[in-house]
Amino acid sequence: MFARFRRKRLNPILRDLLQETQISINDFIYPLFIKSGKGFKKEVNSMPDVFQMSVDEIIKECDTLKELGIYSIILFGIPDIKDSVGSDALCEHGIIASSIREIKKAHPDMFIVTDLCFCEYTDHGHCGVLDPILETVDNDITLSNLAKQAIIHAKAGADMIAPSGMMDGMITAIREGLNREGFSHIPIMSYSTKFASAYYGPFRDVAESAPSFGDRRSYQMNPANRREAILESLEDEKEGADILMVKPALAYLDIVRDIKESSSLPLAIYNVSGEYSMLKMAGREGLVDYEKVLMETMISFKRAGADIIISYHAKEVAKLLQKESS
Ligand code: PBG
Ligand code: ZN
Repeated sequence: MFARFRRKRLNPILRDLLQETQISINDFIYPLFIKSGKGFKKEVNSMPDVFQMSVDEIIKECDTLKELGIYSIILFGIPDIKDSVGSDALCEHGIIASSIREIKKAHPDMFIVTDLCFCEYTDHGHCGVLDPILETVDNDITLSNLAKQAIIHAKAGADMIAPSGMMDGMITAIREGLNREGFSHIPIMSYSTKFASAYYGPFRDVAESAPSFGDRRSYQMNPANRREAILESLEDEKEGADILMVKPALAYLDIVRDIKESSSLPLAIYNVSGEYSMLKMAGREGLVDYEKVLMETMISFKRAGADIIISYHAKEVAKLLQKESS
């Protein structure tokens, strides 16, 4: 018996030749949270190094991102005024539409993805319009609003639309809406398999989007269901999604692998706020070596089958990759 590759005496060049999975900064999308105003930049208590920013600060941030080799961002808007339908998201002068125009003017080379949902815009914090009797989201009215929101984003200059509300039929509705207005070239990255997860806790803090009553279990998935998770993504593929997604990431890598093997579409993974904060805080407390655990985590996403990684850690990953290659 002999070991095929003897790890104890492995030439480092051979080790690199044998490495099956690589991390590239080209795989990352960095999330940004936009608020109105000027010169506004406020760190989020629950997410160290993550900020709510006004658009002028976002434009400066894009300079930093580009220096690090990050050219893709996903935008979340925090409107001044929330109401029962989420009107800010349906208006061409709303926070996202107006910010996209400004960012594109300053950074035409930035690839702008927009999160398409209503929970940041409604006063009740749910992902769509409520049915007054059932007190849960009215799926069908929400669909036509999602199509309107997508068209507004596309007109403002968004490069890709990412619907995150898990409404039934949302991809069909958005695709038809975009096509009708001449945006058939704009891809849809669907949050196709999104679990009802407590890992979103810090996000709801930064996006000011916690539901004022109830929870999102009527439209997000039960973490216990594997077959349903695959079906949800395949359903969005049938409806015409261009990229599928699993969210959250860490506790669901088996699902990432399953979906990768069930569909030939590109697959994104959302390394969510709770996952981010756990790692950051543990690093700050000296419980783990942040940089090492970070890269180990990122490689696990790739190994599981993710093509795209949406992560608040993207800037740190970029810095570490630059350090490695220099
Ligand atoms: C909006 C949305 C959420 C996240 C991304 N888009 C929140 C939610 O569903 O409650 C979560 C991201 C994160 O936790 O980092 N629908
Ligand atoms: Zn939502």
